[in-house]
Amino acid sequence: MSASTAKPLLSLKGISKSFPGVKALQNVHLDLYPGEIHALMGENGAGKSTLLKVMFGAYSADEGAFELSGEPVSIRGPVDALHKGISMVHQELSLVPQLSAIQNIVLGWEKSVAGFIDWSAARREALAALARLDFQGNPHVPVSRLSVGQQQTVELARAIAANAKIIILDEPTASLSTKESEKLFSILRELRADGHALVYVSHRLAEVFDLADRATVLRDGQYVGTLLRGPDLNETSLVKMMVGRSLEDFAIQHEATLGAVALKVDGLARNGVFQNVSFEVRRGEIVGMAGMVGAGRTEVARCIAGADRIDAGSVSVNGKALSLSSPSDAVRAGIAFLTEDRKHQGLALRMSLAKNATLTRVPTRMGFINRTKQAADAKSALASVGARMPTTRLAGQLSGGNQQKVVLAKWLLSGCDIFIFDEPTRGIDVGAKAEIYALMRDLADKGAAILMISSDLPEVLRMSDRVLVMREGTLSGEVARAEATEERIIAFASGGNTWQS
Ligand SMILES: Nc1ncnc2c1ncn2[C@@H]1O[C@H](COP(=O)(O)OP(=O)(O)OP(=O)(O)O)[C@@H](O)[C@H]1O
Ligand SMILES: [Mg+2]
Repeated sequence: MSASTAKPLLSLKGISKSFPGVKALQNVHLDLYPGEIHALMGENGAGKSTLLKVMFGAYSADEGAFELSGEPVSIRGPVDALHKGISMVHQELSLVPQLSAIQNIVLGWEKSVAGFIDWSAARREALAALARLDFQGNPHVPVSRLSVGQQQTVELARAIAANAKIIILDEPTASLSTKESEKLFSILRELRADGHALVYVSHRLAEVFDLADRATVLRDGQYVGTLLRGPDLNETSLVKMMVGRSLEDFAIQHEATLGAVALKVDGLARNGVFQNVSFEVRRGEIVGMAGMVGAGRTEVARCIAGADRIDAGSVSVNGKALSLSSPSDAVRAGIAFLTEDRKHQGLALRMSLAKNATLTRVPTRMGFINRTKQAADAKSALASVGARMPTTRLAGQLSGGNQQKVVLAKWLLSGCDIFIFDEPTRGIDVGAKAEIYALMRDLADKGAAILMISSDLPEVLRMSDRVLVMREGTLSGEVARAEATEERIIAFASGGNTWQS
Protein backbone atom coordinates (compact mmCIF):
# COMPACT_ATOMS: atom_id res chain seq x y z
CA MET A 1 0.00 0.00 0.00
CA SER A 2 1.51 3.29 -0.99
CA ALA A 3 1.00 6.12 1.39
CA SER A 4 0.67 8.63 -1.40
CA THR A 5 -2.40 7.07 -3.01
CA ALA A 6 -4.41 5.98 0.03
CA LYS A 7 -6.44 8.26 2.25
CA PRO A 8 -5.26 8.60 5.85
CA LEU A 9 -7.26 6.61 8.39
CA LEU A 10 -6.45 9.12 11.05
CA SER A 11 -5.10 12.65 10.76
CA LEU A 12 -3.90 14.77 13.64
CA LYS A 13 -3.73 18.44 12.78
CA GLY A 14 -1.96 21.06 14.82
CA ILE A 15 -2.10 19.26 18.15
CA SER A 16 -0.86 21.17 21.20
CA LYS A 17 -0.87 20.02 24.80
CA SER A 18 0.59 21.66 27.90
CA PHE A 19 1.09 20.48 31.44
CA PRO A 20 1.78 23.00 34.18
CA GLY A 21 5.13 24.50 33.23
CA VAL A 22 5.69 22.22 30.21
CA LYS A 23 4.62 22.55 26.61
CA ALA A 24 4.58 18.82 25.89
CA LEU A 25 3.28 19.19 22.31
CA GLN A 26 3.24 22.20 20.01
CA ASN A 27 1.39 22.17 16.73
CA VAL A 28 2.10 18.52 15.87
CA HIS A 29 0.81 16.89 12.69
CA LEU A 30 0.56 13.20 11.96
CA ASP A 31 -1.18 11.17 9.26
CA LEU A 32 -1.75 7.47 9.68
CA TYR A 33 -2.46 5.34 6.63
CA PRO A 34 -4.06 1.93 6.47
CA GLY A 35 -1.44 -0.78 6.08
CA GLU A 36 1.47 1.14 7.54
CA ILE A 37 3.70 0.81 10.56
CA HIS A 38 4.53 4.33 11.61
CA ALA A 39 7.39 4.79 14.06
CA LEU A 40 7.24 7.76 16.41
CA MET A 41 10.74 8.73 17.49
CA GLY A 42 12.36 11.20 19.85
CA GLU A 43 14.41 11.57 22.99
CA ASN A 44 13.07 10.96 26.49
CA GLY A 45 10.52 13.66 27.20
CA ALA A 46 10.08 14.64 23.54
CA GLY A 47 6.31 14.16 23.78
CA LYS A 48 5.77 10.72 22.22
CA SER A 49 3.64 9.19 24.97
CA THR A 50 1.69 12.42 25.29
CA LEU A 51 0.84 12.39 21.58
CA LEU A 52 -0.23 8.76 21.74
CA LYS A 53 -2.41 9.43 24.77
CA VAL A 54 -4.04 12.32 22.92
CA MET A 55 -4.77 9.94 20.01
CA PHE A 56 -6.28 7.45 22.45
CA GLY A 57 -8.35 10.11 24.19
CA ALA A 58 -6.58 9.64 27.52
CA TYR A 59 -5.54 13.30 27.35
CA SER A 60 -7.55 15.98 25.64
CA ALA A 61 -5.57 18.28 23.38
CA ASP A 62 -5.51 22.00 24.16
CA GLU A 63 -5.57 22.77 20.45
CA GLY A 64 -5.85 20.88 17.20
CA ALA A 65 -8.24 18.67 15.28
CA PHE A 66 -8.73 15.01 14.37
CA GLU A 67 -10.04 13.42 11.22
CA LEU A 68 -11.04 9.79 10.91
CA SER A 69 -11.14 8.69 7.26
CA GLY A 70 -11.45 12.34 6.27
CA GLU A 71 -14.30 13.16 8.66
CA PRO A 72 -13.72 15.57 11.55
CA VAL A 73 -14.21 13.81 14.90
CA SER A 74 -13.52 14.39 18.54
CA ILE A 75 -12.20 11.63 20.75
CA ARG A 76 -13.81 12.02 24.13
CA GLY A 77 -11.92 9.38 26.08
CA PRO A 78 -10.41 5.90 25.84
CA VAL A 79 -13.80 4.14 25.65
CA ASP A 80 -14.83 6.46 22.85
CA ALA A 81 -11.48 5.80 21.15
CA LEU A 82 -12.10 2.05 21.31
CA HIS A 83 -15.54 2.56 19.78
CA LYS A 84 -13.90 4.49 16.98
CA GLY A 85 -11.45 1.66 16.39
CA ILE A 86 -8.38 2.99 18.21
CA SER A 87 -6.64 0.85 20.85
CA MET A 88 -3.45 1.34 22.81
CA VAL A 89 -0.68 -0.67 24.44
CA HIS A 90 0.70 1.54 27.21
CA GLN A 91 4.34 2.19 28.08
CA GLU A 92 3.63 1.78 31.77
CA LEU A 93 1.50 -1.32 31.90
CA SER A 94 -2.12 -0.53 32.63
CA LEU A 95 -3.45 -3.92 33.65
CA VAL A 96 -5.47 -4.47 36.82
CA PRO A 97 -2.99 -6.51 38.89
CA GLN A 98 -5.60 -8.51 40.82
CA LEU A 99 -7.40 -9.70 37.70
CA SER A 100 -6.35 -12.57 35.46
CA ALA A 101 -5.11 -12.15 31.90
CA ILE A 102 -8.50 -13.20 30.57
CA GLN A 103 -10.39 -10.83 32.86
CA ASN A 104 -8.10 -7.96 31.90
CA ILE A 105 -8.69 -8.55 28.22
CA VAL A 106 -12.45 -8.89 28.58
CA LEU A 107 -12.70 -5.91 30.92
CA GLY A 108 -14.67 -3.00 29.56
CA TRP A 109 -15.05 -4.54 26.19
CA GLU A 110 -18.52 -4.66 24.84
CA LYS A 111 -19.42 -7.91 23.20
CA SER A 112 -23.08 -7.56 23.91
CA VAL A 113 -25.84 -9.48 22.29
CA ALA A 114 -29.06 -7.49 22.83
CA GLY A 115 -27.58 -5.78 25.86
CA PHE A 116 -26.00 -8.88 27.34
CA ILE A 117 -22.32 -9.52 27.30
CA ASP A 118 -21.60 -12.95 25.94
CA TRP A 119 -18.96 -13.80 28.50
CA SER A 120 -18.04 -17.20 27.18
CA ALA A 121 -17.52 -15.79 23.69
CA ALA A 122 -15.48 -12.94 25.16
CA ARG A 123 -13.35 -15.40 27.09
CA ARG A 124 -12.84 -17.50 23.98
CA GLU A 125 -11.67 -14.45 22.05
CA ALA A 126 -9.35 -13.46 24.88
CA LEU A 127 -7.77 -16.91 24.85
CA ALA A 128 -7.51 -16.79 21.06
CA ALA A 129 -5.70 -13.44 21.21
CA LEU A 130 -3.32 -14.81 23.86
CA ALA A 131 -2.68 -17.92 21.79
CA ARG A 132 -1.98 -15.82 18.73
CA LEU A 133 0.74 -14.06 20.72
CA ASP A 134 2.16 -17.37 21.97
CA PHE A 135 1.43 -16.39 25.56
CA GLN A 136 3.30 -18.80 27.86
CA GLY A 137 1.88 -17.79 31.23
CA ASN A 138 -1.21 -18.92 33.12
CA PRO A 139 -4.18 -16.87 31.85
CA HIS A 140 -6.21 -17.62 35.00
CA VAL A 141 -3.96 -16.27 37.77
CA PRO A 142 -3.74 -12.58 38.76
CA VAL A 143 -1.49 -10.81 36.26
CA SER A 144 0.63 -9.49 39.14
CA ARG A 145 2.08 -13.00 39.31
CA LEU A 146 3.21 -12.90 35.68
CA SER A 147 6.59 -11.64 34.48
CA VAL A 148 6.81 -8.13 33.03
CA GLY A 149 7.20 -9.63 29.54
CA GLN A 150 4.09 -11.73 29.99
CA GLN A 151 2.12 -8.74 31.26
CA GLN A 152 3.19 -6.86 28.15
CA THR A 153 1.84 -9.70 26.04
CA VAL A 154 -1.50 -9.53 27.85
CA GLU A 155 -1.62 -5.80 27.22
CA LEU A 156 -1.11 -6.39 23.50
CA ALA A 157 -3.64 -9.22 23.45
CA ARG A 158 -6.17 -6.79 24.84
CA ALA A 159 -5.55 -4.36 21.99
CA ILE A 160 -5.74 -7.12 19.39
CA ALA A 161 -8.88 -8.63 20.87
CA ALA A 162 -10.59 -5.25 20.70
CA ASN A 163 -10.25 -5.59 16.93
CA ALA A 164 -9.28 -1.97 16.42
CA LYS A 165 -8.23 -0.64 13.05
CA ILE A 166 -5.64 1.64 14.63
CA ILE A 167 -3.27 0.19 17.18
CA ILE A 168 -0.99 2.43 19.19
CA LEU A 169 2.04 0.80 20.82
CA ASP A 170 4.18 2.71 23.31
CA GLU A 171 7.53 0.91 23.61
CA PRO A 172 6.03 -2.56 23.30
CA THR A 173 9.38 -4.34 23.11
CA ALA A 174 11.05 -2.62 26.05
CA SER A 175 10.61 -5.66 28.29
CA LEU A 176 10.53 -8.41 25.70
CA SER A 177 13.33 -10.83 24.84
CA THR A 178 14.68 -10.97 21.30
CA LYS A 179 12.53 -13.99 20.58
CA GLU A 180 9.41 -12.42 22.03
CA SER A 181 10.09 -9.25 20.05
CA GLU A 182 10.43 -11.19 16.83
CA LYS A 183 7.12 -12.88 17.51
CA LEU A 184 5.57 -9.48 18.11
CA PHE A 185 7.02 -8.11 14.87
CA SER A 186 5.58 -10.94 12.82
CA ILE A 187 2.19 -10.17 14.36
CA LEU A 188 2.57 -6.47 13.63
CA ARG A 189 3.42 -7.33 10.02
CA GLU A 190 0.30 -9.51 9.79
CA LEU A 191 -1.80 -6.68 11.17
CA ARG A 192 -0.26 -4.34 8.63
CA ALA A 193 -1.03 -6.76 5.81
CA ASP A 194 -4.63 -6.83 7.07
CA GLY A 195 -4.80 -3.07 6.58
CA HIS A 196 -4.40 -1.94 10.18
CA ALA A 197 -2.55 1.28 10.89
CA LEU A 198 0.06 0.92 13.62
CA VAL A 199 1.90 3.67 15.47
CA TYR A 200 4.88 2.45 17.32
CA VAL A 201 7.40 3.99 19.73
CA SER A 202 10.79 2.41 20.33
CA HIS A 203 14.23 3.53 21.38
CA ARG A 204 15.77 0.60 19.53
CA LEU A 205 16.74 1.99 16.16
CA ALA A 206 17.44 -1.39 14.58
CA GLU A 207 13.81 -2.36 15.15
CA VAL A 208 12.59 0.77 13.50
CA PHE A 209 14.66 0.16 10.34
CA ASP A 210 13.39 -3.38 10.31
CA LEU A 211 9.72 -2.58 10.72
CA ALA A 212 8.71 0.95 9.97
CA ASP A 213 7.27 2.22 6.69
CA ARG A 214 7.66 5.77 7.92
CA ALA A 215 9.16 7.45 10.96
CA THR A 216 8.05 10.75 12.45
CA VAL A 217 10.42 12.54 14.79
CA LEU A 218 9.48 14.84 17.67
CA ARG A 219 11.91 17.03 19.55
CA ASP A 220 10.94 19.10 22.60
CA GLY A 221 7.28 18.67 21.76
CA GLN A 222 7.65 19.88 18.19
CA TYR A 223 7.27 18.08 14.91
CA VAL A 224 10.70 17.75 13.25
CA GLY A 225 9.88 15.67 10.19
CA THR A 226 8.78 12.37 8.70
CA LEU A 227 11.12 9.99 6.89
CA LEU A 228 9.96 7.41 4.40
CA ARG A 229 11.39 3.90 4.40
CA GLY A 230 14.37 3.88 2.07
CA PRO A 231 17.88 5.30 2.01
CA ASP A 232 16.82 8.42 3.92
CA LEU A 233 15.59 6.40 6.87
CA ASN A 234 19.00 5.67 8.38
CA GLU A 235 20.69 5.98 11.74
CA THR A 236 22.60 9.17 11.01
CA SER A 237 19.59 11.09 9.79
CA LEU A 238 17.26 9.81 12.50
CA VAL A 239 19.66 10.50 15.35
CA LYS A 240 20.35 13.94 14.00
CA MET A 241 16.65 14.73 13.84
CA MET A 242 16.04 13.39 17.35
CA VAL A 243 19.04 14.89 19.13
CA GLY A 244 19.56 17.95 16.96
CA ARG A 245 23.22 17.06 16.40
CA SER A 246 25.28 14.05 15.32
CA LEU A 247 26.50 11.63 17.96
CA GLU A 248 29.98 10.18 17.67
CA ASP A 249 30.17 6.46 17.93
CA PHE A 250 30.42 5.99 21.66
CA ALA A 251 31.90 2.51 21.60
CA ILE A 252 34.08 2.21 24.63
CA GLN A 253 37.60 1.00 23.98
CA HIS A 254 38.68 -0.38 27.23
CA GLU A 255 40.86 -2.79 29.17
CA ALA A 256 39.44 -3.35 32.63
CA THR A 257 41.89 -3.36 35.54
CA LEU A 258 40.56 -6.02 37.82
CA GLY A 259 40.78 -5.74 41.58
CA ALA A 260 39.73 -8.05 44.40
CA VAL A 261 36.57 -10.15 44.31
CA ALA A 262 33.79 -7.90 45.59
CA LEU A 263 30.76 -10.14 45.09
CA LYS A 264 30.83 -13.91 45.31
CA VAL A 265 27.78 -16.07 44.80
CA ASP A 266 28.20 -19.72 45.68
CA GLY A 267 25.76 -22.55 44.95
CA LEU A 268 22.83 -20.16 45.16
CA ALA A 269 19.38 -21.70 44.76
CA ARG A 270 15.77 -20.79 45.14
CA ASN A 271 13.44 -23.78 45.03
CA GLY A 272 11.68 -24.19 41.74
CA VAL A 273 13.24 -21.02 40.29
CA PHE A 274 17.00 -21.48 39.87
CA GLN A 275 19.70 -23.85 41.11
CA ASN A 276 23.39 -23.96 41.78
CA VAL A 277 24.35 -20.51 40.56
CA SER A 278 27.98 -19.61 41.31
CA PHE A 279 30.02 -16.70 40.03
CA GLU A 280 32.26 -13.82 41.11
CA VAL A 281 32.44 -10.18 40.18
CA ARG A 282 35.68 -8.29 40.77
CA ARG A 283 36.21 -4.64 41.45
CA GLY A 284 36.68 -2.81 38.17
CA GLU A 285 34.73 -5.45 36.30
CA ILE A 286 31.43 -5.36 34.44
CA VAL A 287 29.97 -8.82 34.16
CA GLY A 288 27.11 -9.14 31.72
CA MET A 289 24.33 -11.63 32.33
CA ALA A 290 22.48 -12.72 29.23
CA GLY A 291 19.66 -15.19 28.70
CA MET A 292 16.09 -15.45 27.55
CA VAL A 293 13.36 -13.67 29.47
CA GLY A 294 12.34 -16.19 32.14
CA ALA A 295 15.77 -17.84 32.42
CA GLY A 296 15.97 -16.75 36.07
CA ARG A 297 18.33 -13.78 35.85
CA THR A 298 16.15 -11.29 37.69
CA GLU A 299 15.33 -13.96 40.29
CA VAL A 300 19.05 -14.48 41.02
CA ALA A 301 19.47 -10.72 41.36
CA ARG A 302 16.51 -10.47 43.73
CA CYS A 303 18.08 -13.07 46.03
CA ILE A 304 21.45 -11.30 46.03
CA ALA A 305 19.63 -8.06 46.83
CA GLY A 306 17.78 -9.56 49.77
CA ALA A 307 14.37 -9.25 48.14
CA ASP A 308 13.67 -13.00 47.99
CA ARG A 309 14.58 -15.84 50.36
CA ILE A 310 17.61 -17.94 49.46
CA ASP A 311 17.04 -21.69 49.80
CA ALA A 312 20.65 -22.82 49.42
CA GLY A 313 24.09 -21.35 48.88
CA SER A 314 25.63 -18.08 49.92
CA VAL A 315 26.33 -14.49 48.90
CA SER A 316 29.58 -12.91 50.10
CA VAL A 317 30.85 -9.36 49.84
CA ASN A 318 34.58 -8.73 50.23
CA GLY A 319 35.01 -12.33 51.36
CA LYS A 320 32.40 -12.16 54.13
CA ALA A 321 29.20 -14.20 53.85
CA LEU A 322 26.08 -12.08 54.23
CA SER A 323 22.96 -12.92 56.11
CA LEU A 324 20.27 -11.47 53.89
CA SER A 325 16.80 -11.18 55.29
CA SER A 326 15.74 -7.93 53.63
CA PRO A 327 16.85 -5.49 50.92
CA SER A 328 18.30 -3.17 53.56
CA ASP A 329 20.77 -5.91 54.57
CA ALA A 330 22.06 -5.91 51.01
CA VAL A 331 22.27 -2.12 50.82
CA ARG A 332 24.21 -2.09 54.08
CA ALA A 333 26.69 -4.48 52.49
CA GLY A 334 27.04 -2.04 49.60
CA ILE A 335 24.80 -3.79 47.05
CA ALA A 336 22.54 -1.59 44.93
CA PHE A 337 19.89 -3.32 42.84
CA LEU A 338 18.37 -1.32 39.99
CA THR A 339 15.33 -3.30 38.99
CA GLU A 340 13.84 -3.56 35.53
CA ASP A 341 10.41 -2.59 36.73
CA ARG A 342 10.54 1.13 37.33
CA LYS A 343 6.98 1.38 38.56
CA HIS A 344 7.88 -0.65 41.61
CA GLN A 345 11.36 0.47 42.38
CA GLY A 346 10.58 3.14 44.87
CA LEU A 347 10.11 6.33 42.95
CA ALA A 348 7.92 8.58 45.05
CA LEU A 349 5.84 10.04 42.25
CA ARG A 350 4.53 12.99 44.26
CA MET A 351 7.95 14.02 45.52
CA SER A 352 10.50 16.27 43.86
CA LEU A 353 13.47 14.93 41.94
CA ALA A 354 15.77 16.32 44.62
CA LYS A 355 14.03 14.24 47.29
CA ASN A 356 13.79 11.15 45.13
CA ALA A 357 17.42 11.21 44.11
CA THR A 358 18.61 11.57 47.71
CA LEU A 359 16.17 9.05 49.28
CA THR A 360 18.93 6.59 50.13
CA ARG A 361 21.17 9.24 51.63
CA VAL A 362 19.57 12.48 52.78
CA PRO A 363 22.22 15.15 53.40
CA THR A 364 21.82 16.72 56.82
CA ARG A 365 23.35 19.60 58.66
CA MET A 366 23.01 19.90 62.43
CA GLY A 367 20.14 17.45 62.42
CA PHE A 368 18.18 19.15 59.66
CA ILE A 369 17.91 18.26 56.02
CA ASN A 370 20.45 20.33 54.13
CA ARG A 371 18.25 21.41 51.24
CA THR A 372 20.97 23.26 49.37
CA LYS A 373 23.19 20.21 49.36
CA GLN A 374 20.22 17.96 48.61
CA ALA A 375 19.45 19.95 45.47
CA ALA A 376 23.13 20.12 44.46
CA ASP A 377 23.69 16.36 45.00
CA ALA A 378 20.56 15.55 43.04
CA LYS A 379 21.47 17.93 40.25
CA SER A 380 24.92 16.48 39.68
CA ALA A 381 23.73 12.87 39.96
CA LEU A 382 20.92 13.57 37.49
CA ALA A 383 23.28 15.31 35.08
CA SER A 384 25.63 12.33 35.14
CA VAL A 385 22.82 10.10 33.85
CA GLY A 386 21.82 12.54 31.14
CA ALA A 387 18.78 14.05 32.88
CA ARG A 388 19.09 17.81 32.86
CA MET A 389 15.97 19.25 34.40
CA PRO A 390 14.99 21.30 37.43
CA THR A 391 15.25 19.21 40.62
CA THR A 392 12.05 20.80 41.88
CA ARG A 393 9.94 18.88 39.34
CA LEU A 394 7.82 16.01 40.62
CA ALA A 395 8.89 12.50 39.61
CA GLY A 396 5.35 11.68 38.48
CA GLN A 397 5.51 14.40 35.85
CA LEU A 398 8.48 12.92 34.03
CA SER A 399 8.41 10.80 30.92
CA GLY A 400 9.05 7.08 31.34
CA GLY A 401 12.69 7.24 30.31
CA ASN A 402 13.44 10.19 32.53
CA GLN A 403 11.96 8.40 35.55
CA GLN A 404 14.40 5.60 34.88
CA LYS A 405 17.26 8.10 35.02
CA VAL A 406 16.10 9.38 38.41
CA VAL A 407 16.24 5.84 39.79
CA LEU A 408 19.80 5.54 38.51
CA ALA A 409 20.73 8.85 40.13
CA LYS A 410 19.30 7.71 43.45
CA TRP A 411 21.53 4.65 43.56
CA LEU A 412 24.58 6.64 42.51
CA LEU A 413 24.15 8.72 45.64
CA SER A 414 23.59 5.71 47.89
CA GLY A 415 27.26 5.05 48.57
CA CYS A 416 26.96 1.47 47.31
CA ASP A 417 29.88 0.03 45.34
CA ILE A 418 28.39 -3.19 44.02
CA PHE A 419 25.75 -2.55 41.38
CA ILE A 420 23.27 -4.95 39.87
CA PHE A 421 21.67 -3.34 36.85
CA ASP A 422 18.62 -5.13 35.48
CA GLU A 423 17.98 -3.90 31.91
CA PRO A 424 19.67 -0.56 32.64
CA THR A 425 18.82 1.20 29.38
CA ARG A 426 15.33 -0.10 28.84
CA GLY A 427 13.35 2.86 27.50
CA ILE A 428 16.37 5.19 27.54
CA ASP A 429 16.97 7.33 24.47
CA VAL A 430 20.00 7.00 22.23
CA GLY A 431 21.89 10.00 23.60
CA ALA A 432 21.36 9.20 27.28
CA LYS A 433 22.28 5.57 26.65
CA ALA A 434 25.78 6.71 25.74
CA GLU A 435 25.98 8.67 28.97
CA ILE A 436 24.80 5.73 31.04
CA TYR A 437 27.34 3.40 29.43
CA ALA A 438 30.11 5.87 30.14
CA LEU A 439 28.86 6.21 33.70
CA MET A 440 28.89 2.44 34.29
CA ARG A 441 32.42 2.19 32.95
CA ASP A 442 33.46 5.08 35.14
CA LEU A 443 31.95 3.45 38.23
CA ALA A 444 33.87 0.26 37.47
CA ASP A 445 37.10 2.18 36.89
CA LYS A 446 36.65 3.77 40.30
CA GLY A 447 36.51 0.31 41.88
CA ALA A 448 32.86 -0.67 41.75
CA ALA A 449 31.81 -4.20 40.78
CA ILE A 450 28.96 -4.38 38.29
CA LEU A 451 26.62 -7.16 37.30
CA MET A 452 24.56 -6.12 34.28
CA ILE A 453 21.53 -8.16 33.30
CA SER A 454 20.51 -7.32 29.77
CA SER A 455 18.44 -8.80 26.97
CA ASP A 456 19.96 -6.35 24.52
CA LEU A 457 22.81 -8.35 22.99
CA PRO A 458 24.64 -5.41 21.39
CA GLU A 459 24.63 -3.81 24.84
CA VAL A 460 25.96 -6.99 26.47
CA LEU A 461 28.75 -7.23 23.91
CA ARG A 462 29.68 -3.58 24.15
CA MET A 463 29.75 -3.32 27.93
CA SER A 464 30.79 -6.66 29.41
CA ASP A 465 34.27 -7.71 30.41
CA ARG A 466 32.84 -11.20 30.75
CA VAL A 467 29.43 -12.64 29.91
CA LEU A 468 27.48 -15.16 31.99
CA VAL A 469 24.56 -16.86 30.29
CA MET A 470 21.57 -18.31 32.08
CA ARG A 471 19.13 -20.82 30.76
CA GLU A 472 16.17 -22.39 32.55
CA GLY A 473 17.36 -21.53 36.03
CA THR A 474 21.02 -22.47 35.74
CA LEU A 475 24.19 -20.87 34.47
CA SER A 476 24.61 -22.45 31.06
CA GLY A 477 27.81 -20.75 29.99
CA GLU A 478 30.46 -18.13 30.43
CA VAL A 479 32.15 -16.28 27.59
CA ALA A 480 35.24 -14.08 27.84
CA ARG A 481 35.06 -10.66 26.24
CA ALA A 482 37.42 -11.61 23.43
CA GLU A 483 35.31 -14.63 22.46
CA ALA A 484 31.91 -13.04 22.95
CA THR A 485 29.70 -13.00 19.88
CA GLU A 486 25.93 -12.88 19.55
CA GLU A 487 25.93 -16.40 18.13
CA ARG A 488 27.83 -17.89 21.07
CA ILE A 489 25.63 -16.18 23.62
CA ILE A 490 22.44 -17.22 21.86
CA ALA A 491 23.72 -20.78 21.66
CA PHE A 492 24.20 -20.93 25.45
CA ALA A 493 20.94 -19.11 26.11
CA SER A 494 18.86 -21.41 23.95
CA GLY A 495 20.48 -24.71 24.82
CA GLY A 496 22.27 -25.10 21.52
CA ASN A 497 25.55 -25.28 23.40
CA THR A 498 26.60 -26.70 26.75
CA TRP A 499 28.87 -25.39 29.45
CA GLN A 500 32.45 -24.67 28.48
CA SER A 501 34.78 -22.77 30.70
N1 LIG B 1 1.06 13.99 33.61
C1 LIG B 1 2.03 14.89 33.38
N2 LIG B 1 2.16 15.99 34.14
C2 LIG B 1 3.13 16.90 33.90
N3 LIG B 1 4.04 16.80 32.91
C3 LIG B 1 3.97 15.72 32.10
C4 LIG B 1 2.97 14.70 32.31
N4 LIG B 1 3.15 13.74 31.36
C5 LIG B 1 4.20 14.14 30.62
N5 LIG B 1 4.69 15.32 31.05
C6 LIG B 1 5.81 16.08 30.46
O1 LIG B 1 5.59 16.21 29.07
C7 LIG B 1 6.80 16.04 28.34
C8 LIG B 1 6.64 14.92 27.34
O2 LIG B 1 6.55 13.68 28.03
P1 LIG B 1 6.26 12.28 27.31
O3 LIG B 1 5.92 11.30 28.39
O4 LIG B 1 5.27 12.49 26.24
O5 LIG B 1 7.70 11.96 26.68
P2 LIG B 1 8.16 10.70 25.81
O6 LIG B 1 8.59 11.24 24.49
O7 LIG B 1 7.12 9.65 25.82
O8 LIG B 1 9.48 10.23 26.58
P3 LIG B 1 10.04 8.73 26.95
O9 LIG B 1 10.86 8.29 25.79
O10 LIG B 1 10.94 8.99 28.13
O11 LIG B 1 8.90 7.85 27.28
C9 LIG B 1 7.89 15.80 29.37
O12 LIG B 1 8.51 17.04 29.65
C10 LIG B 1 7.13 15.31 30.58
O13 LIG B 1 7.82 15.60 31.76
MG1 LIG C 1 7.02 7.75 26.66
